[in-house]
Amino acid sequence: MQVKKAIFPVAGLGTRFLPATKSSPKEMLPLIDKPLVHYVVEEAIASGIEQVLFVTGRGKRAIEDYFDIAFELEALLHDKGKDAELVQMRKIAEMVKIFYVRQKQAMGLGHAILCGREFVGNEPFAVLLGDDIIDADRPCLSQLLDVYHKYQGTVLALEQVPMENISSYGCVKANQITEEAFEVLDMVEKPKREDAPSNLAIIGRYVLTPDIFPILERQQPGKGGEIQLTDAIRKLLTVDAVYGCRFEGTRHDCGDKFGFLKATVDMALKRGEFNGKFKAFLRQRLCECEETLSVR
Ligand code: G1P
Repeated sequence: MQVKKAIFPVAGLGTRFLPATKSSPKEMLPLIDKPLVHYVVEEAIASGIEQVLFVTGRGKRAIEDYFDIAFELEALLHDKGKDAELVQMRKIAEMVKIFYVRQKQAMGLGHAILCGREFVGNEPFAVLLGDDIIDADRPCLSQLLDVYHKYQGTVLALEQVPMENISSYGCVKANQITEEAFEVLDMVEKPKREDAPSNLAIIGRYVLTPDIFPILERQQPGKGGEIQLTDAIRKLLTVDAVYGCRFEGTRHDCGDKFGFLKATVDMALKRGEFNGKFKAFLRQRLCECEETLSVR
């Protein structure tokens, strides 16, 4: 069955990025000139997704406004003859069919997904987390969907991370089946380094089936007192096969200040309009840093 629907849980408070996220959603932080959420919606569309559900919360109205028609702005652009910008604004409002539901309490990722039950109905669906921006030749979600179509089961995006960082992620114990596909044997949410079964971390892309909902409904709070998606998928493992996809591409953790900075530099280096200028700027800064170091 084709996967046409995606859930974007966007109710999180973005505490890793305060104070920027005090009054605006972390999903709206701009990477060069587009908010993070725009990149992730683009990835979903490029992977065949036709309907998106934002699971939102308090203070997230800016996301709704961004994907809506902005009449005043469009009128202004029209009056000023800024046609290219006008077309660009209209395209954003028409990108994909978007639905919204409020997650009334911050009860965790698992709970956010459960809020999408009615939207999903009885179809397989994707989940995309806005913190993870994945720069890839083939969209990361498309790579997961290939694994899904081959094995017909739940698929998680996996990445090998340095062992000292594993406690920031869901972590899996898995058997490698092919170059990119793994069969998941066990999983644990944000383990202590010494308890982690591997350095394979779950990254914010999932292909799930509606079988997860009855489990989520009964799921007790886990790590951090929240209803964890990882714990629910672990339960699913007892009755169903779960797969991992070690995707090709560069993942940027944009919910983190340093990750965001690296993403900005990487993206700027790829953008034709300032590639040359930006490289020259970086080179100059690097030389200055080296000079400072050699003086010391
Ligand atoms: C969530 C998941 C975690 C996963 C991570 C990927 O955690 O609970 O299993 O590894 O996303 O970004 P969060 O970062 O939202 O705390």
